[in-house]
Amino acid sequence: MTITTCIFDAYGTLFDVDAAAREVAKQPGQSQLAAVWGTLSKDWRAKQLEYTWLRAIGARHIPFWQVTQDALDWAMENNGLHDNALRAKLLAVYKECPAFPEVKPMLKALQAKGVNIAILSNGSPDMLVPAVRSAGIGEYLDDVLSVEDAHIFKPHHSVYDLVWDRFDVPQSEVLFASSNGWDAAGAAGYGFATVWINRADAPPDRLWASPHRTLKSLKTIPDLI
Ligand code: LAC
Repeated sequence: MTITTCIFDAYGTLFDVDAAAREVAKQPGQSQLAAVWGTLSKDWRAKQLEYTWLRAIGARHIPFWQVTQDALDWAMENNGLHDNALRAKLLAVYKECPAFPEVKPMLKALQAKGVNIAILSNGSPDMLVPAVRSAGIGEYLDDVLSVEDAHIFKPHHSVYDLVWDRFDVPQSEVLFASSNGWDAAGAAGYGFATVWINRADAPPDRLWASPHRTLKSLKTIPDLI
């Protein structure tokens, strides 16, 4: 298998989506959040993804940044948090989500192999641009592809088509990595060589296709090229 192009999901794969709630909970005066940050973060992420699927099925697309805010509003209410200043703080940190520690060295090693490297994310450009900038990974990326150009969320096939539109390479030459089992399944069904980054040790999703490989982190991705 010759891989010429490596594509990464963003949230949960490159960027640590739990960081916002975890980091804000450490700030002075945040004892209420500190007591529930784990469930808040879980609810926030679960609702965020649920809303993307519902909006795709309902043909009611809005940018992921708005979905992220709608999901946070649900999660805060579900956890008894009613605080606009806290909401603003959580969103500010989310916009500059830190990357997992292995991301930068992994991208650097991959770049040395001479493959195309890009992000393909549900994220809207107004969130992906600051996240890439604050993680300091822009120099390793050939592009940052957003579903905003397809106007529908993953795992719709027209999102994965964006890779073809940009790089003009056959699906079999694309290595796609995602920590979201359903995204990895969608990409595998589309024809990409797919790696599921199973950070949480979760059972595999039962969907229409399965990822070709499962790894615990992104660290060894360059070894696959
Ligand atoms: C993304 C979501 C799925 O970045 O995390 O596309």
